[in-house]
Amino acid sequence: MLPALAALACLLHGAAAAQSSSSAKSASASASASHSSASHSTSGLASATAPPLQSTVSQIVVTTATAIPSPSAGAPLPSQAVLPPTQSWCPSKIFCAGPLLQTINLANPFVDPKTIVDKPTRKTSQAVLADFAALPGNASLTEGAVVAFLDADFAGEGQELVAVPLPGFQAAPRFLKNVTDPLLQAFAGTVHGFWTQLVRGTNASTLCDGVKCESSLIPLNHTFVVPGGRFREQYYWDSFWIVEGLLESELYSIANDTLQNFMDEIERFGFIPNGGRIYYLDRSQPPLFIQMLARYVAASNDTAILKRALPLAERELTWWQTHRTLNVTSPFTNTTHALAQYAVANSAPRPESYLQDYTTVHDPAQPALNDSQAAALYAELASGAETGWDYSARWLTGDAALGTGLRRLNVRGTLPVDLNSILYKNRVLMAQLYGKANATAAARHTAAAAAIKAGVLDLFWNATKLAFYDFDLVTNTRNDVFSTATFYPFWSGIIPPEVLASAENAFGAFAAINLVLNRYNGTVPVTFIETGLQWDAPNAWPPHQYVALQALRALPANVTTGALPTPAAGAGSFSLVPAGQLGVEEAALPVQALSGTSNASTSGAAADVGARGAGAGGGVVNGGNATGAAGWADALGVQLANRYVAGALCSWHATGGQIPGLLPRLSDAELNVTQSANNTGNMFEKFSISDIDSAGRGGEYTVQAGFGWTNGVLLWVASNYGGALVAPECPSLLAVAPAASSSAAPSGTGSASASASGPSTSTTGAARGLGAPSMRVLGALLACVVACAAW
Ligand SMILES: *[C@@H]1O[C@H](CO)[C@@H](O)[C@H](O)[C@H]1NC(C)=O
Ligand SMILES: *[C@@H]1O[C@H](CO)[C@@H](O)[C@H](O)[C@H]1NC(C)=O
Ligand SMILES: *[C@@H]1O[C@H](CO)[C@@H](O)[C@H](O)[C@H]1NC(C)=O
Ligand SMILES: *[C@@H]1O[C@H](CO)[C@@H](O)[C@H](O)[C@H]1NC(C)=O
Ligand SMILES: *[C@@H]1O[C@H](CO)[C@@H](O)[C@H](O)[C@H]1NC(C)=O
Ligand SMILES: *[C@@H]1O[C@H](CO)[C@@H](O)[C@H](O)[C@H]1NC(C)=O
Ligand SMILES: *[C@@H]1O[C@H](CO)[C@@H](O)[C@H](O)[C@H]1NC(C)=O
Ligand SMILES: *[C@@H]1O[C@H](CO)[C@@H](O)[C@H](O)[C@H]1NC(C)=O
Ligand SMILES: *[C@@H]1O[C@H](CO)[C@@H](O)[C@H](O)[C@H]1NC(C)=O
Ligand SMILES: *[C@@H]1O[C@H](CO)[C@@H](O)[C@H](O)[C@H]1NC(C)=O
Ligand SMILES: *[C@@H]1O[C@H](CO)[C@@H](O)[C@H](O)[C@H]1NC(C)=O
Ligand SMILES: *[C@@H]1O[C@H](CO)[C@@H](O)[C@H](O)[C@H]1NC(C)=O
Repeated sequence: MLPALAALACLLHGAAAAQSSSSAKSASASASASHSSASHSTSGLASATAPPLQSTVSQIVVTTATAIPSPSAGAPLPSQAVLPPTQSWCPSKIFCAGPLLQTINLANPFVDPKTIVDKPTRKTSQAVLADFAALPGNASLTEGAVVAFLDADFAGEGQELVAVPLPGFQAAPRFLKNVTDPLLQAFAGTVHGFWTQLVRGTNASTLCDGVKCESSLIPLNHTFVVPGGRFREQYYWDSFWIVEGLLESELYSIANDTLQNFMDEIERFGFIPNGGRIYYLDRSQPPLFIQMLARYVAASNDTAILKRALPLAERELTWWQTHRTLNVTSPFTNTTHALAQYAVANSAPRPESYLQDYTTVHDPAQPALNDSQAAALYAELASGAETGWDYSARWLTGDAALGTGLRRLNVRGTLPVDLNSILYKNRVLMAQLYGKANATAAARHTAAAAAIKAGVLDLFWNATKLAFYDFDLVTNTRNDVFSTATFYPFWSGIIPPEVLASAENAFGAFAAINLVLNRYNGTVPVTFIETGLQWDAPNAWPPHQYVALQALRALPANVTTGALPTPAAGAGSFSLVPAGQLGVEEAALPVQALSGTSNASTSGAAADVGARGAGAGGGVVNGGNATGAAGWADALGVQLANRYVAGALCSWHATGGQIPGLLPRLSDAELNVTQSANNTGNMFEKFSISDIDSAGRGGEYTVQAGFGWTNGVLLWVASNYGGALVAPECPSLLAVAPAASSSAAPSGTGSASASASGPSTSTTGAARGLGAPSMRVLGALLACVVACAAW
């Protein structure tokens, strides 16, 4: 179903507020531009001094979406399937599954169904329900009548949240001195300044009291940082990377506030929900609260927080233990392990993604589902959202009987390696936080950590392929989908004995990063499988670059010395990847597009086009110089850090970003390609393996000064790799758009962070390994026309 084109609620900043966000967008916007080989080189400009940083809060304007269904106002609504069961965890008759929400969603008034449930009512709940009941019956109900009802009974989404000043903001935090390149130092300072745009508080004057009006917002008592765009609330796992960045920025007070909000939520609900809305109360997200807490305490020295935080951290761990943990007997060793999974009790569409979920379940192109099958699929869809990776080939079974695409979700049938690694680290950190002050509690957590580690190594680690995979409970064996989840155990401090045994093995576990750096222009993709789902290739997400970098840093020095291995003559970097590790043959890897319409070779040394000048300590085209690296792991880290900065800087520049005196604004003709003529630069929530500024080039278009985790990771990289960062050479926007599907921007894959998004392609996600249908075409159809649109 083609979503209506509609203006969305976005938090616009500064002068960009007047920007139109309703024009249709094609993924091939640059196809007719004349060819040019010029790159917008940034490196020649590096000698000027950095401009003063902005420390004032620009005006934040909240706009709201206008309901514009794609059918005409007089058109009747599509016929409705029978209602799903009401959900006891979500009792609102307006914002939770029920006749009102289903009816409005079928009218499809907004590009993003989350808009509907983020609108507080203008009237009492009873009045709204009465107005709904007074609408004509389904057969004669029109699109226009639904829009009129929405306009009369609902106010603007997001209006209960207001931009607030950022306490303690200072223009020049210490970490900036770590960045030696003047342009990149100025860029890091600019990104640091974006925090001022992302701080929100609850607006008491517009808050619904539940009597005069009703709202889905969970009001928080402390200020917080939002990811941006449609993610206008505080989110759970996004906040980990936001806090990492805030700590680099020395913004301890707002980091404390973030933690205080999470503690309030644990106190009130017993766990931390996905985000600050009632419709998230059936699910959590990757449990990173304890890790945020430990980082905050280490950076701020505020140990006083532990008095309140430790008991609440215990409560959160108990929630995961009670609601998400299973005993599983390993088929490899016959040992029984207690390990966790994502598993949400839910039998209705997610309110914020109602239409997508409804469509997935009632897809006429797939087998009809009975009530229990439908309930199971709704539970899978919600569980997939709890993983943060919604959705990915990681969660799809090969069981064709289930249908295609998201019909094959098997989240509850999976033990995820990343979740268990996070829980392991949480236990280690709890033991450290208790320390000598409570040796009993510390010992309890140390023992729990050891038990989880044994389970992770037994069930998830394949010593032959030198990688971690999820465990499939249905087939009772390891999954074969290689993903960035393989790096989570390393990040958490679980280093398998085979990796400790030799530098050669250790490199094997990270050979995929070397492959990406040599073969592609961008950063590490989620998987090497192109399904059209947003947590698969070609998408590369900021948190994963952080995890990969931390994983490299976690290796002991005795296995990271020695230069990067080089392939034998004629062979490419693929030959250095342990056999079978990626689960796909070389020819099936995503394609790297070159300029014009040509693609890079798909095999052998010729495929390594990203490796310009690499080899013995050379650089890569998008910046980075591993010459001074201490060994292969450091060399990979330096190059990946540079790639990440290149992607963030080039896409920001390509959408209108500039730094006076250092980085001139692009020409109007160039900015026209990204429809950014009136824009001032965007930080995107995700990137592409093959095109470092595809976020700008390809049709996804965000106008907010986001994106929380993108900024957080940028600041962390700047602090930790600052001396090794080199100004990138950004691709030319006027070059002819690449033709290969894998080089297209991930425009069909939605723009939402995992936090809350629905599938981009609920009816078309290809079966694992089969490759996607024309994602380009689909992308053009579904292209999120606006900022915060997510699908
Ligand atoms: C800057 O770099 C130094 C040395 O590499 C490192 O110790 C420090 O943590 C980095 N960050 C800051 C904020 O100084
Ligand atoms: C953290 O926030 C709490 C709640 O507002 C406050 O009581 C405490 O003093 C704060 N801690 C610091 C170090 O500012
Ligand atoms: C915020 O504070 C009020 C008053 O103390 C309390 O009733 C409410 O539960 C708090 N909110 C949360 C999310 O804890
Ligand atoms: C925390 O303590 C360490 C060591 O005493 C010190 O180096 C650091 O500056 C302190 N951090 C803050 C934010 O006060
Ligand atoms: C797992 O096994 C332990 C020890 O036998 C037991 O205490 C626990 O209740 C079991 N958990 C589940 C979810 O079955
Ligand atoms: C596990 O136990 C079964 C019998 O209970 C036995 O057949 C099998 O060989 C054992 N597997 C391993 C890996 O020890
Ligand atoms: C140690 O921590 C436990 C919670 O795990 C708590 O019940 C106990 O009171 C603590 N003991 C001390 C001495 O603080
Ligand atoms: C590990 O991977 C190898 C190579 O694919 C495979 O042959 C082996 O069965 C796997 N081992 C286990 C225990 O899954
Ligand atoms: C590296 O050190 C670890 C201990 O930290 C040890 O277990 C391992 O055997 C060492 N590896 C090599 C290759 O020396
Ligand atoms: C990838 O990088 C190469 C070399 O700089 C360049 O020619 C090509 O256009 C880039 N491809 C994309 C899709 O940006
Ligand atoms: C990398 O750095 C070294 C020393 O810092 C320098 O000599 C070399 O020219 C640099 N290479 C590139 C490609 O920038
Ligand atoms: C911008 O691009 C559109 C086509 O996408 C073209 O019609 C228009 O002339 C361009 N404007 C400028 C100023 O280049």
